[in-house]
Amino acid sequence: MTTIKSVDFNKIPKGWFVIGKSSLIKKGNVKTIHYFDQEFVIYRGKNREITILTPHCVHLGAHLGDGVIVNNCLRCPFHGWEYNSQGQVIKIPFTNTIPRRARKKTLPNKEINGFIFVYFTHDNEPPIPFPIVSFLNQPHWKYSHVRESIIDASIYSISENLGDKAHFPVVHDTFVSHAQLDSFITEENNNLKAKLSVSTKKGFCWRAQNIEITLKTLGGISAAISQFHLFSFPSTSVHALIFITPIDSTSLLMTKIVAVENKKNNFLNFLYNFITSRVIWQTIIEDSSIWEKRIVLDHPVLSSDDGPIIPLRKWMAQFYPLKK
Ligand code: FES
Ligand SMILES: [Fe+2]
Repeated sequence: MTTIKSVDFNKIPKGWFVIGKSSLIKKGNVKTIHYFDQEFVIYRGKNREITILTPHCVHLGAHLGDGVIVNNCLRCPFHGWEYNSQGQVIKIPFTNTIPRRARKKTLPNKEINGFIFVYFTHDNEPPIPFPIVSFLNQPHWKYSHVRESIIDASIYSISENLGDKAHFPVVHDTFVSHAQLDSFITEENNNLKAKLSVSTKKGFCWRAQNIEITLKTLGGISAAISQFHLFSFPSTSVHALIFITPIDSTSLLMTKIVAVENKKNNFLNFLYNFITSRVIWQTIIEDSSIWEKRIVLDHPVLSSDDGPIIPLRKWMAQFYPLKK
């Protein structure tokens, strides 16, 4: 059984990750991308289907990022072998005999709500359930433009934030005077739900208030959504959705979306989105200064006022590879 001691939290966990918006790759294009501490080649066939595979040709090792799309296949730039969307070589020029081992590993992917999700894993087990983000399709939510940023942090550090209530009044002291964890549940389907009460200080355009925040992960540790109410404005509900995708063990792509209850008034939608995005971005900047330099201790010394760091680690362990 996977335990905290048996896994390596410095490695990349398994899960569904957002590698970018659908516009990342156009029809008929091939690109080299770097995620999960390695290179991959991504291409979009003429049928708009995306394929992601490891970069070197099984024949004599040419880099497939320099290949071209022929119909829905990727043709290697060296001797012209053609790979289909399952990573199988289906054509070799001037011969009808295709070696049985002429295939490459592809990464499962899905495109939904304008984002490309990729499943990364170290093992050969089937993917964990795909995260469904229902509010992105619903008209009573108005979501802002997506912000993509490169952050110097490990995915572990960001995920541990979910249960670390003690850092709020210290790191986020521009907004927060006190934080309390009201509940922390690990649910089935690989999800976690935490409820926090945060007392805010008086700010530029809001009064001091208590905000109840519900944090929920979506299918693993790669996506988290938080829901809260802005009492300073006519009782507006807000969703902040954050996808985190490891580039390597110390940096990641963060994709942030803020959604507010649609007020049928574009100025108010814009204003609430703008203010919430700014506040959330400010908290990320504050966290980043810690994330950049912290390390993950195997045996942290914890106090009775810490959040559920150990239960959180126990839950996260299921996504991490075993120590070598
Ligand atoms: S190296 Fe790719 S076809 Fe030869
Ligand atoms: Fe934080």
